[in-house]
Amino acid sequence: MVIKLLTALLLLLTGVLALIQVYNRLVLQLRQGSMRTIIGVITTMTFCFFPTFLGLYYGSPIFLRFALLSLIIAILPEIIIRKRRSSLEAADSPDIIDVASDKNTAGWFNDTSKSLVIRRHTLRLPSFQGPDLRIAHLSDFHADNSQVYDILDIVTATVNSLNVDILLLTGDFTDSTAALPGMIVYLKQMKTRFGSYAVLGNHDYWGNHREIRSQLQQAGIIFPPVSGLDIPMSLDYRIVLFGIEYPNVKPWQLDSVDSRKRCLSIALSHTPDNFFRLTRSGLDLVFSGHLHGGQWRFPVIGSVVSPSLYDRLFDHGHFLKNRTHLFVSAGLGNVWFRKRINCPPEILLVDIVGGSYPSVPGMRTIPVFQDRKEGTAESHNALRHVGVSYD
Ligand SMILES: [Fe+2]
Repeated sequence: MVIKLLTALLLLLTGVLALIQVYNRLVLQLRQGSMRTIIGVITTMTFCFFPTFLGLYYGSPIFLRFALLSLIIAILPEIIIRKRRSSLEAADSPDIIDVASDKNTAGWFNDTSKSLVIRRHTLRLPSFQGPDLRIAHLSDFHADNSQVYDILDIVTATVNSLNVDILLLTGDFTDSTAALPGMIVYLKQMKTRFGSYAVLGNHDYWGNHREIRSQLQQAGIIFPPVSGLDIPMSLDYRIVLFGIEYPNVKPWQLDSVDSRKRCLSIALSHTPDNFFRLTRSGLDLVFSGHLHGGQWRFPVIGSVVSPSLYDRLFDHGHFLKNRTHLFVSAGLGNVWFRKRINCPPEILLVDIVGGSYPSVPGMRTIPVFQDRKEGTAESHNALRHVGVSYD
């Protein structure tokens, strides 16, 4: 009986590991909910229930060895992803500034849906000698009538307190077009020097994307084309911004940007799955969202759910390949499970340190706190001048 139970347990673990790969790389990317359910049930039966039943019924010493071998093989992709990830992760560690921690949800195994952190990176690019630039990046609002509004006022006040030069928005604005005007009220209040720029995400495309784009454009948000949009920064320098819409909508090809002089080249791509392709164009920066940092993050394991062709490789963080930096935001809103665990919504802030130009006043004045609680109190104080109270 013990051998049968052990065999079933090993086969179940093998099945779960295989299922995570299949769900992330295939099932969760399907647009149609009914198709997702059908394939989800079939794969769950095939990978988990059926092998576990076989183990319980036919368990034997030889079968146990086979189950052990299966588990070892199933662990291999996990090891490969972790090694590959560590080779792609950028060496810097961001400043994490807690601006709206919900006191009832502090701790790692708690709902962090109503928290908010700023994740700030400071970057000097050898290829760019222009002025300093502060970039704020927001992603995956998933606004509907019941969520995100809880923190959008704090997001808006925080963005406005940060002297942002340019605001980048990487899609999944809403799951309900009716909720869009309420969110746009906040987006219109966000003040930046060079404007706000966006691409749509898969959830926007699965809804009424024409209406979503039109309403955002009417609010002053610009959608850069895949051919690039020039944004002058100074007399000599400019930003070239590329918008890569959600995959499979239209085929796209980015020209090489290597020949472009005195510019900072940035691509907005809802999904980080385009990263390897974008590195071939010699871009400086890529901003993505889509994966919500897994939305639930666990100690040691990290994320589990990450609908990407690369599984959890790019679930959250800062990556570097060749000369191209990729920033993947944990986003602001939620899907499916309406809660976050140990994965607070975030504002991504990237300070590009330029060449011989003087720094923008206030660019590096954000306090850095190691302690979550201290950071909350101090940063709340810092934000009070914009009229937000946290008492
Ligand atoms: Fe999303």
